[in-house]
Amino acid sequence: MYSRIAGTGSYLPAKVLTNADLETMVDTTDEWIRSRSGIERRHVAAPEESTSTLAAEAARRAMQAAGVTAADIDFVAVGTCTPDFIFPNVGTLVQRHLGIHDTPAFSIETACSSFMYSLSMADKFIRLGEAKCALVIGAECLSRIVDWNDRSTAVLFGDGAGAVILTPSETPGILTTLLSADGQYSDLLYFPYGPSSGFDKLRAGAPGGISMKGNEVFKVAVNTLSSLVDKTLAKAGVDKSEIDWLVPHQANLRIIQAAARKLDLPLERVVITVQDHGNTSSASIPLALDAAVRDGRIQRGQLLLLETFGGGFTWGSALVRY
Ligand code: COA
Repeated sequence: MYSRIAGTGSYLPAKVLTNADLETMVDTTDEWIRSRSGIERRHVAAPEESTSTLAAEAARRAMQAAGVTAADIDFVAVGTCTPDFIFPNVGTLVQRHLGIHDTPAFSIETACSSFMYSLSMADKFIRLGEAKCALVIGAECLSRIVDWNDRSTAVLFGDGAGAVILTPSETPGILTTLLSADGQYSDLLYFPYGPSSGFDKLRAGAPGGISMKGNEVFKVAVNTLSSLVDKTLAKAGVDKSEIDWLVPHQANLRIIQAAARKLDLPLERVVITVQDHGNTSSASIPLALDAAVRDGRIQRGQLLLLETFGGGFTWGSALVRY
C-alpha cells in the first residue's frame, strides 16, 4: 500500500508587501533583496487572520481538488512554527474551522521542514492502513514573529499556507520520504522566546524576532541539501535523470539554483515561487506544489522531488509520483 496526493490547495493573504514597501521601513534596497535572495514581494496576513485560518482555507481548496469532504478526513497534520496558541494545537483548530471530528489532529514544529515531517507521518499512517484520507498542511504567519526593525530578516519572510490530501493507492504515490536533523546548529536560526524559556521577557515586551546567521545557514543548507538529494535518490533507487520536477523549499533563489545544478535540472524544471512569496517556512513547498499543479506544469504521473531545510537544523525530502 502506498499513499498518493489526491489534491492540493493553497492560500495567500491578500496584502502584498513589495521590496519597494520595505525600502520605506528599513535601510534596504530592492536590488539588495533581489540579488541576495531572489525575493520581490511577500504576502502578509490581515489582523483577523491567523495560522489556523490560513491553514483551513488552503485545506478547503485541497479538499475540493481531491473531491473529499470533512466527513472523509481521518487524519490532520499541520506543520508550523507560528501556531495560533501554545495549545490547542493548530490541527485541532483546523478541525474546528472545517467541521472535522474524532480524528488524530496535531501540529509539528520542525520549522521549514515541518510540512515534510507531517507528510512523512501521514504517509506512514496511510501505508499502515490506519488512515484513509489524510489532510496535511504547512501554514505560517511569520510576519508575527519577525522583528520589522531588523533588515537582515524582515525582508526574507512571508505568510501563507498550502495543503495536500493523501489517500491510499496500490501504486506509488509517495515513493519514499527522508527526514533528518542536527541540533548542534540550533543557535544559527531560532526564535529567542518560548513558553518555557524567556516567556516572561516576551510578556514584559522584550524586543527581538527571528534570529539568523544567514551566511552560515546558507553554507550548511547547500551542503546538506546536496547530500540529501543523493541519499533520497539512492534510497528509492531512482536516477536523477528520472526527476521531472524539483519542488524545493523557497528560502533563497541561490540555494534553489545549487540544488538544481546538483540534479542537472534546468531551472525550467524547478518550481520557483520565492520571488512572489518570500520564505514561508513550512508553507513554501505545498504552496509551490499547488501553484505548479494548478497552472498545469505538474502533470499526473510525473516524478517530483520535494526537499527542504530549516531551523534546528532539520531537513527532509520526498520523492513523489504525482
Ligand atoms: N539590506 C541591505 N543590506 C543588508 C540587509 C538588507 N536587507 N541585510 C543585511 N545587509 C547587510 C549586512 O549588514 C552586511 O553588511 P556588512 O558587510 O556591512 O556587515 C551585508 O549586507 C552582507 O550580509 P550577509 O549576511 O553576509 O549577506 P549574504 O550575502 O549572506 O545574504 C542572506 C544574506 C540572509 C540573504 C543569505 O545569507 C541567505 O539567504 N542565507 C540563508 C537563509 C536561509 O535560507 N534561511 C532559511 C533557512 S530555512
